[in-house]
Amino acid sequence: MARMLENQVAIVTGAGRGIGAATAKLLAEHGAKVVVSDLDAAPAESVVAEITAAGGEAVAFAGDVTDPAFPDALMQKCIETYGKLNVLVNNAGYTWDGMLHKMSDKQFQAMLDVHNVAPFRLIRAAGPYMREASKAEKSAGRDPEPRCIINVSSTSGVHGNVGQINYSTAKSGILGMTKTVAKEWGAFGIRCNAVAFGLIETRLTQDAESGEKIAVAGEEVTLGMPGHLKGMATMLIPLARPGTPQDAAGAILLLASPYASYITAHCLDVTGGLNA
Ligand SMILES: NC(=O)c1ccc[n+]([C@@H]2O[C@H](COP(=O)([O-])OP(=O)(O)OC[C@H]3O[C@@H](n4cnc5c(N)ncnc54)[C@H](O)[C@@H]3O)[C@@H](O)[C@H]2O)c1
Repeated sequence: MARMLENQVAIVTGAGRGIGAATAKLLAEHGAKVVVSDLDAAPAESVVAEITAAGGEAVAFAGDVTDPAFPDALMQKCIETYGKLNVLVNNAGYTWDGMLHKMSDKQFQAMLDVHNVAPFRLIRAAGPYMREASKAEKSAGRDPEPRCIINVSSTSGVHGNVGQINYSTAKSGILGMTKTVAKEWGAFGIRCNAVAFGLIETRLTQDAESGEKIAVAGEEVTLGMPGHLKGMATMLIPLARPGTPQDAAGAILLLASPYASYITAHCLDVTGGLNA
């Protein structure tokens, strides 16, 4: 298959595991140099090692996307290492489920912080290397380089979901952000799209009883979903199976590729047909 991102540089947040890791590997396979960023340094380093072993180029950068100092530091790492930025994938995230009547302010705010505030700050921090860079290229009479942003949303953000008032609100908010960025930066040739994933097999959707936790913002949050709910959701998927991280990464590559050159302000459902 032709390499679609030759000479491009990508940042993928939350790229130490799951969808982000598969995305970093696929973008690298298509020629992009990738900044593999994650809260956890060790998994990010091992994704870099896999990319390098396969002949690609990547560098790891660890940190919490909700730290206000993180976006500038990440951009600095990208520019120091590779000199430019073409593709920004805002993927880092987690769930902290609970029914509305029992949800604390902290629990609600944490989802806005990771799924809305962090992507906003990251896009703003990318401004000099995306908006300003494209503007300068246009002023010099050149076609701007391909540049795009892909924000990760969820079927919960599009349709709502029981037990996820915080997550669904935030994953809906990222859709408004996506369309606004597309409208503000479209004149510079920068595309901004979202992907709304359904049920993808990762740590986030494993059996909650397995007890995996994420330690973030001074909290230990249990991840996963009840096994019986997963079985029920799978029965409603027309393709009759959950998605793989590779299915999810394919959709992100599609939107980053030259074949999506006229697609912007769009939310692509990647659900195997669920909720269609
Ligand atoms: N798995 C699904 O079914 C599904 C469905 C819809 C949307 N999503 C979204 O896809 C994205 C990726 O999730 P996944 O399923 O691959 O989960 P995952 O837990 O396998 O991977 C998420 C990665 O993000 C990192 N991360 C979390 N919070 C972070 C923070 N504050 N700063 C930096 N890194 C952080 C984690 O360390 C982890 O490596 C998330 O935004 C999630 O909400 C997933």
